[in-house]
Amino acid sequence: MDTTRRELLKTTALGGLATSFAGIFGGTASAAGTPGLVTLPSGITIRQDIVSPRPRPSGQQPVHNLTTKPLQKVRVAHIGLSRGMTHVNDCLNLEFTEVVAVCDLRDERAKSAADQCEKVRGKRPDIYSGTEHIWEKMVARDDIDVVYIATPWAWHVPMAVGAMEHGKHAFVEVAAAVTVDDCWKLVDTSERTQRHCVMLENCCYGENELFILNMVREGVFGELTHGECAYIHDLRSLLFSLGTEGDWRRDYHWQYDGNLYPTHGLGPIAQYMGIGRSDQFKFLVSMSSPEIGLHAWRDKHHPNAGKHEKEKYVCGDMNTSTIKTELGRTIMIQHDVISPRPYSRINALSGTGGTFFDYPARLAINEPRKYRLDSPGSHEWLGDKDLARMRKLFTHPLWRKLEERAKGGGHGGMDFVMNWRHLDCIRQGITPDSVVYDAAAWSSIIEVSSLSVATGSMPVPIPDFTRGLWKSLPPLPIAFRAPGPAIAMPVKIAEWTPQDLQADWVVKSWVVSKGIIAAGDYGFEFQYTRGAHRLDFRKVALLTEDAVVAHDDQAGHSGLENVHNVYRFAIAKHDPAAKYLLQAEIKADGGTDSSGEISIWKD
Ligand SMILES: NC(=O)c1ccc[n+]([C@@H]2O[C@H](COP(=O)([O-])OP(=O)(O)OC[C@H]3O[C@@H](n4cnc5c(N)ncnc54)[C@H](O)[C@@H]3O)[C@@H](O)[C@H]2O)c1
Repeated sequence: MDTTRRELLKTTALGGLATSFAGIFGGTASAAGTPGLVTLPSGITIRQDIVSPRPRPSGQQPVHNLTTKPLQKVRVAHIGLSRGMTHVNDCLNLEFTEVVAVCDLRDERAKSAADQCEKVRGKRPDIYSGTEHIWEKMVARDDIDVVYIATPWAWHVPMAVGAMEHGKHAFVEVAAAVTVDDCWKLVDTSERTQRHCVMLENCCYGENELFILNMVREGVFGELTHGECAYIHDLRSLLFSLGTEGDWRRDYHWQYDGNLYPTHGLGPIAQYMGIGRSDQFKFLVSMSSPEIGLHAWRDKHHPNAGKHEKEKYVCGDMNTSTIKTELGRTIMIQHDVISPRPYSRINALSGTGGTFFDYPARLAINEPRKYRLDSPGSHEWLGDKDLARMRKLFTHPLWRKLEERAKGGGHGGMDFVMNWRHLDCIRQGITPDSVVYDAAAWSSIIEVSSLSVATGSMPVPIPDFTRGLWKSLPPLPIAFRAPGPAIAMPVKIAEWTPQDLQADWVVKSWVVSKGIIAAGDYGFEFQYTRGAHRLDFRKVALLTEDAVVAHDDQAGHSGLENVHNVYRFAIAKHDPAAKYLLQAEIKADGGTDSSGEISIWKD
């Protein structure tokens, strides 16, 4: 680091750094040299003070624990009926919701949504369509509790603010807002009106994301240290598809160079880490690769008869940001909708107790024995059977509850789980899992990352939309509301000593009846405790005096190291009068000096 930069870092507060290098790295201080204004290559300006703390205006109350009047029926209205149709259909599948009105600029979409409601529920919702501001009439009605907003990003904030100003809860698609100023607008409106502004971040309700969240809350990951996430989705073709979201999303590729779609990856990581509740984003450093792939694709395919030839994209194909949290944790987040590669949100988490990586799902555990897994340790990912066991132990109660109903639903079922959960919170009058502070924090990364990129990857503070509340809030309680099944602790049921052993293989059986209390799946573990020799075992079987209940011939051993020392047997029908025996061929390696215990547990 050169002296000038070192001196600057020493003497300048983080908040003052963001724009200091404007001009050197592509973003420019404004022509007139206005301090604290960065002009992006697209001409868009970002003020340095967007990241400064903003005191709560008088008359506003926090909404982190806002409760509302419980409702028999939640009356919903929908604006935006492309992606929004998933939400309409989910609402039609919920016994406690009623779709009161539907709205879209396009008449045919609004009519088709109303047709669908009538077909399923026998009641036609009111239609609002045809003009850009017709939604204002709809949100002014007094018979709506929740307004869903699934429109282009530019409409999210005016619509959410309008809905809240008229006393409705706003459920707004991702990202809730594009600029930090707009994030604050959502926060201030939610606090002023005491209405919820919930961002529809469906990825927080995926099976794997809920599985990880539950494991985090149950302590499997120990102390969390690091997360990685992304939105990696080859959208090149979609971005030139007229009449779809690609058509307006492409605009952001000439406006900003940063992370344009942060919330799918970041939302789940933020919930694992308790961001906004016991920890908080502190600052971010971001850098982008060159922009190549989008214009190259356009120049090769000449979509829409060449009408986009003059567009000048600035958003790097790959944007990588790292976030530091107040507790010192780190998060790596990427955005790449251009490179030819399979979809991924990475969805990775590390703590002192384990590491998870998704795409495909992989888990490594520091103490596999604690969960009676076959894995020898943390140097390899758990095998399929072990991962299945962890899923059995830690699948989130919410996923368990809704899995069947969610089947066939949008995005592998997570859309339904999300909609059920958010609407059920409104029905009960309890605080939803994520509130306006989460929507703002996760969305603010768009502009904050763009500011960092424009200033040569300088660290940029991430606003604390909770205004310090995060310090006193406990992590998200979702996992505690209905805890997963307690982990069955193994109990000693038998043992081996040198007297049981000979030079060669010998058949030995142990009575295990008192550990078998009902039909179900049982685990048996051989664990060496002392002696010069390890115990080898094979042909392990569970018997009654009359029959073989189950057997597993695979050899294993237990000594300083354990290899296949857990055997699992299913008892389909329990006979309380029967004498159950565990039988195995055993031998110690090279002598008979081996002692150990056999434990049993019911899965
Ligand atoms: N969470 C997810 O998995 C997911 C998936 C897809 C899209 N989205 C989000 O959903 C939102 C919508 O995306 P989309 O793919 O449906 O876009 P889209 O462009 O296909 O559809 C938007 C709809 O909004 C309507 N609309 C536009 N302006 C309007 C106005 N002023 N009043 C009423 N209607 C208006 C359009 O006519 C259109 O039917 C975006 O925020 C997007 O990021 C989220």
